[in-house]
Amino acid sequence: MEKTQFRYLEESDQRRGVPQPPLELGYDDSVTVIDLPAPADIEVGAIDLRKAIENRRSVRDYSEQPLTLGELSFLLWCTQGVKGVVARPATLRTVPSAGARHAFETYLLVNRVEGLRAGLYRFLAIEHKLVEVSLESGLADRVAEACLGQRSVTTSAVAFIWAAVTYRMVWRYGQRGYRYLHLDAGHVCQNLYLAAEAIGSGVCAIGAFRDDQINGLLGIDGKEQFVIYLAAVGKKKQLEAPPRKYPPSFSAIPQGASPGPGTPSRNLFPSSVTA
Ligand SMILES: Cc1cc2nc3c(=O)[nH]c(=O)nc-3n(C[C@H](O)[C@H](O)[C@H](O)COP(=O)(O)O)c2cc1C
Repeated sequence: MEKTQFRYLEESDQRRGVPQPPLELGYDDSVTVIDLPAPADIEVGAIDLRKAIENRRSVRDYSEQPLTLGELSFLLWCTQGVKGVVARPATLRTVPSAGARHAFETYLLVNRVEGLRAGLYRFLAIEHKLVEVSLESGLADRVAEACLGQRSVTTSAVAFIWAAVTYRMVWRYGQRGYRYLHLDAGHVCQNLYLAAEAIGSGVCAIGAFRDDQINGLLGIDGKEQFVIYLAAVGKKKQLEAPPRKYPPSFSAIPQGASPGPGTPSRNLFPSSVTA
């Protein structure tokens, strides 16, 4: 953190006139490219923003119901959708990003999405398409293991895995760019939480993972590109615990008292890996 402070900033590559890196990673002609339903064509029921914010909670148990391809497309649109490419050049997306650097690549570990085979994919944000990365069996178990055995990875319909392409940010901001990458990731995941509310789905952010292991599974080096954050997503179970009351009346529960019968028990994330 210390080295990301403004006082340590040196002249950036951008200031030195070094050409900027591409807006997204390319792909080989030999890979399978999958079309996604266009964002404008996806019908999603209206949801009150306040309700979505107040209902949001981390969901770690999911129903068996798959996500449709349209729903996945909607979640990708809400988290990284490209609204335009401007002359700088830069992308403008549905989330903010420091200097519009948008340094993330979104990988998807697909478990249950209609029309997609289980496996690992990467989102082409500008084209709004997917590329197949790996359909190797057992991948979900290995990703879960890299996430310290968290079951939500394997039981989810899909797990979003955001990888930062370091230089896309550092080219402009030097070491301070590392700080911005982490700030940017929060915006992306929060949009996923809220968008999921609109399609009856729940999300659990995942920050507890073994870096080398997960980077290895994605085939990235952990330096030029590294996994920064994950989130598991799945349809909510029918009999969901009632939403917590807002605003919570903290004063109503004396300190140290048990919450009392009937209070929905929360699947609290084990403290050994609590993020
Ligand atoms: C940066 C970050 C990392 C997190 N990592 C994990 C994780 O690895 N596993 C998990 O089950 N929950 C994880 N969470 C979810 C938190 O445990 C959860 O947000 C917190 O308990 C509050 O509950 P709520 O989201 O339902 O309000 C993470 C949340 C954040 C913001």
